[in-house]
Amino acid sequence: MSETLSMDSVREADGPEQDLDLVVEQVETVADEVVAVTLRRADGEALPAWSPGAHLDVRLGPDIVRQYSLCGNPDDRDRWRIAVLREVNGRGGSERVHALRSGDAVAGRGPRNNFKLDPAPRYLFIAGGIGITPILAMITEAERAGARWQLLYGGRTRSSMAFREELSLEYPDRVTTHPEDESGLLDLREALGTPIVDTLVYCCGPEPLLAAVEAACVPWPENALRIERFTPKVIDPDVTSADTAIEVEFRASGITLRVAACSSILSAAEEAGLPVVSSCQEGICGTCETAVVEGEPDHRDSVLSPAEQASGEVMMICCSWAKSSRLVLDL
Ligand code: FES
Repeated sequence: MSETLSMDSVREADGPEQDLDLVVEQVETVADEVVAVTLRRADGEALPAWSPGAHLDVRLGPDIVRQYSLCGNPDDRDRWRIAVLREVNGRGGSERVHALRSGDAVAGRGPRNNFKLDPAPRYLFIAGGIGITPILAMITEAERAGARWQLLYGGRTRSSMAFREELSLEYPDRVTTHPEDESGLLDLREALGTPIVDTLVYCCGPEPLLAAVEAACVPWPENALRIERFTPKVIDPDVTSADTAIEVEFRASGITLRVAACSSILSAAEEAGLPVVSSCQEGICGTCETAVVEGEPDHRDSVLSPAEQASGEVMMICCSWAKSSRLVLDL
C-alpha cells in the first residue's frame, strides 16, 4: 500500500524566460576547479522566479552559450548562483566562467526548466560531481515541502565535491557521500535494487553514472526516474546516416521547406527567416522546443522524457528528425 505523507506542494512555477543583463557579484572557489558565481540584474530589479531544476543560459562570447543550473535559494529574487567545473578539455565555456570577476557584465537568458521537481512524498537524489548543482536547490525544496529524501553524492575526491561539507553537516542522516578514492563508486545496486514506493529518483552527473542509474531503474515504475544530461546522448551513426530529406511545413508561418538530411530543421527555419530561438543546438537545453501538428518525430534530444517523446507532441528541432516523410510544425 502506498504511504501518504502530509506535504506542501513543491514550487513549480518559473517566471517567463527572458533576456537578462547581469552583473557578477561574487566568484568563490567551492571545490577543486569549481567556482560558484553569484549574479544580480544590472538594473537592480528583481530576477524572475525560478523553481529547482531550472537553468540559465550564459552568453560567454559571440558563439558561446552555456547552460548552468541555478543552485542558490529560489526565494532570493535578488541573486542567482551557478557553480561551474573547469573542463580542461572542454570547448572554452567553463574557462570563461572561471575568468569572471566581481563587477563583470554577463548576458543571460532564463530561467528554463527541463528538470522539474514533481511533487512526491519521497525523493532519492543521486549526484555525480558537478551534477550536484540542480540537486542542491531540490533538496532545499524537498525540505520546505516536508518530503522525505536521501542524497547519494559521488565524486573523484572529497575536495572535488562542491558543497559536500555543508550538505553533510546540515543533513548528516540524509546525505551519503562517496569520494571515489576512499570508498569507490556509488553502490547503485544497494540504492536502487528494490524499487521504493512513492519515490521519485532525480539524478544528474556524468554520462556513465546516468547510464548506470538508468539500467538500475529498469524495475522501477515508469517515470520514477528523472535525469538531466550535461552532454548530449550519443546517437548511433547508422541511424543518422540512414536519414533522407523530409518536407517540413511551418504552419504558423505559411512556409513549406524541403530539408536535406545533412541539415537540421532549425537551420532550415533560420535560413528561411522564421522566428526560431535556439541555444545549445545539440538537444540538451530545450530552447528550440517546437509543437508538432502532424507527422512522427524521430527524437534525438536529451531533454524530453521517454513519455514526452512517445507522445510526439513536441520536438527539439535542432537535433531531431522525422520518421515520417513530412512534418507539420506550429512555427
Ligand atoms: S537549441 Fe538546445 S535543445 Fe535545441
